[in-house]
Amino acid sequence: MALPALGLDSWSFLGLFLFQLLLLFLPPATTAGREGQGPTPRVKYHAGDGRRALSFFHQKGLQDFDTLLLSDDGGTLYVGAREAILALNIEDPGVPRLKNMIPWPASDRKKSECAFKRKSNETQCFNFIRVLVSFNSTHLYACGTFAFSPACTFIELQDSRLLPISEDRVVEGKGQSPFDPTHKHTAVMADGMLYSGTMNNFLGSEPILLRTLGSQPVLKTDNFLRWLQPDASFVAAIPSTQVVYFFFEETASEFEFFEKLRISRVAQVCKNDVGGEKLLQKKWTTFLKAQLLCTQPEQLPFNVIRHAVLLADNSSTDPQVYAVFTSQWHVGGTRSSAVCAFSLKDIKSVFEGKYKELDKETSRWTTYEYPDISPRPGSCSKGPSSDKALTFMKDHFLMDEPVVGTPLLVKSGVEYTWLAVETAQGIDGQSHLVMYLGTSTGSLHKAVVSGDHSAYLVEEIQLFPDPEPVRNLQLAPTQGAVFVGFSGGIWKVPRANCSVYESCMDCVLARDPHCAWDPESQTCRLLPTPILKSWKQDMQQGNPEWACASGPMGRSLGPRSRPQIIKEVLAVPNSILELPCPQSSALASYHWSHGVEAIPEAPTTVYNGSLLLLLRDGAGGLYQCWATENDFSYPVVSYWVHSQDQPLALDPKLAGIPRERMEAPLTRVGGGAALAAPKSYWPHFLTVTVLLALVLSGALVTFLVSPLGALRARGKVQGCGTLDMDADNNLQGTEVA
Ligand SMILES: *[C@@H]1O[C@H](CO)[C@@H](O)[C@H](O)[C@H]1NC(C)=O
Ligand SMILES: *[C@@H]1O[C@H](CO)[C@@H](O)[C@H](O)[C@H]1NC(C)=O
Ligand SMILES: *[C@@H]1O[C@H](CO)[C@@H](O)[C@H](O)[C@H]1NC(C)=O
Ligand SMILES: *[C@@H]1O[C@H](CO)[C@@H](O)[C@H](O)[C@H]1NC(C)=O
Ligand SMILES: *[C@@H]1O[C@H](CO)[C@@H](O)[C@H](O)[C@H]1NC(C)=O
Repeated sequence: MALPALGLDSWSFLGLFLFQLLLLFLPPATTAGREGQGPTPRVKYHAGDGRRALSFFHQKGLQDFDTLLLSDDGGTLYVGAREAILALNIEDPGVPRLKNMIPWPASDRKKSECAFKRKSNETQCFNFIRVLVSFNSTHLYACGTFAFSPACTFIELQDSRLLPISEDRVVEGKGQSPFDPTHKHTAVMADGMLYSGTMNNFLGSEPILLRTLGSQPVLKTDNFLRWLQPDASFVAAIPSTQVVYFFFEETASEFEFFEKLRISRVAQVCKNDVGGEKLLQKKWTTFLKAQLLCTQPEQLPFNVIRHAVLLADNSSTDPQVYAVFTSQWHVGGTRSSAVCAFSLKDIKSVFEGKYKELDKETSRWTTYEYPDISPRPGSCSKGPSSDKALTFMKDHFLMDEPVVGTPLLVKSGVEYTWLAVETAQGIDGQSHLVMYLGTSTGSLHKAVVSGDHSAYLVEEIQLFPDPEPVRNLQLAPTQGAVFVGFSGGIWKVPRANCSVYESCMDCVLARDPHCAWDPESQTCRLLPTPILKSWKQDMQQGNPEWACASGPMGRSLGPRSRPQIIKEVLAVPNSILELPCPQSSALASYHWSHGVEAIPEAPTTVYNGSLLLLLRDGAGGLYQCWATENDFSYPVVSYWVHSQDQPLALDPKLAGIPRERMEAPLTRVGGGAALAAPKSYWPHFLTVTVLLALVLSGALVTFLVSPLGALRARGKVQGCGTLDMDADNNLQGTEVA
């Protein structure tokens, strides 16, 4: 251990000593939280981060903004909250404006009945809006839990304002809205009829698939035949040309398993179904269901579906349904989620395949080949079905084959609750899938799938300061935003904020299809339509090497290492500098260099990404923080450091690069954390400095006399540890250089 006696004046020693001491008192730097398996979001924004400014709509006295409906023209967002329905104007940028609002409380009689049935008058006996759909050009149709007594009504619109609900137009809504606000449900309008899937009784033990409204007969599932397990929980309904698909999960009956096994399903019913005449009267005659399988090799299946959407993209010949799943099992105390894609073609072909049949004697499900009945039972053929076909349908509602999905994203430690998808065209002319995924802890992930690759996460935005689940997501393409409903209001989240990517490298590495580098303005910007080919983006590789190669280049420095700007730091000798390095990408690794060399040894240290440097003789020069991402390294920030005593002429290689003079503060330990961290380390640091000065004034005398004395000085200083200082600072293992 070399003691720093040689060639050091007392001030350098003091500086060096303070520096070492400072290192001791630094709070432990919080490295990024442990990420589970699966892609890591490249950038994370905490709630209220100015780089991702979100607009927030809320209304005093209202809560549970659970149901969202976008008007056909895309300019109005209808919102079903607890006991009220709102119309929001979302045409202008910024915060959605309230157009108008109509109350729709459960009646007092229903509320008291509800409380009488031992439901909570504080949390449950209200009208939670569950169904909000566009019925025709002049009317919406809405249903709510109505204090455990579901009710529905038409709501007239006038210039997309809601007209008040007259009480005599409120009808019973059993089978359309759940009784219990915590029960899942789904509903969709198709060809003027409402298809809904929910619980049909107060106890929540009788699920139903129901068709109401419109000209066709009202049809439902047969409860006695057990087409649905008593705990079926519906998450989505998607109309196709001939059929309506329902997505749900329930207890699996066809597998023997030592514990209750949940299973995800897709069911179909034909739009032209009119029910049976003698058999299956007022019941579906085309109800079929199949297993949905979302799994990765050597992993437990993701067996619980949470939400599903169809990508509304008519350019595709094989439309895909995207669904989020979680697993019923926790592995290592955390849940995992997956997103799988299912092609409608595959779903269709499973429904045209073999059936399963329950052997009544053994209670086992066996495969049943094809029935000798034409037209095939369950197909959407016109005309009345024969009794034989209907009898067959009563018992053959489960398909033999599962519908196997393609996993696009598998991530542990996160529970996705909702998703919205769209495609975005990149500069390469390709269309890229963009998924917005809401989590159970209130954050939003933007995931992108390019080509055949699996998904990567462009960003994570924590929406709420306190974790709570995302209740609903609604994409508003013309507004370029996603609306997120939760207990306290509505967030408007713009698709992207490209200006957070400050360099071409960062912009290209982000691989956000909505953002590209505009070489003219030298900014990362939202890609306009029509696309400007001169802008830079590389969705496939995310390789800035070629994308950012144009423009003026240094003679001796390649485009890789040429800084965009040099921050010039002119500091007092022997002061301690903190050179920050913004670590914007969680996918990059960062390191510092001094000149052309790696980071010099003492007296420097990297703390929480920043370089802490004691400015001594010869310590000046070029300091660069490098990011290495996707096999590409580039300087994130470059400092030219020199002391006020001996200004150092700029390296000629760096000539021509814009420079910016920086105030050089003495280290601001933890100062950057002033916003977030409750504890400031400044007072602490000053206390230590004063104590130290006292100790040193004695010690220095000894030190200046002989190098041996320094040893004693060190002993004394280590004695500082016994002074009454913060107990959680560990002073052991201290070394003076
Ligand atoms: C976008 O990011 C820039 C740079 O961080 C910031 O100044 C701006 O306020 C952000 N805008 C929005 C709408 O988030
Ligand atoms: C709920 O019922 C209790 C007892 O009946 C009553 O004291 C309380 O005020 C009621 N709360 C509300 C919100 O109505
Ligand atoms: C829309 O439906 C409502 C309710 O059935 C009806 O009163 C109204 O006339 C319909 N409007 C149009 C334009 O068809
Ligand atoms: C998709 O449908 C819309 C309206 O239904 C139409 O305007 C558009 O041209 C269609 N796009 C393609 C690629 O077919
Ligand atoms: C670490 O750096 C980040 C960003 O530069 C800052 O927000 C955070 O407060 C710093 N943490 C500590 C403990 O200084």
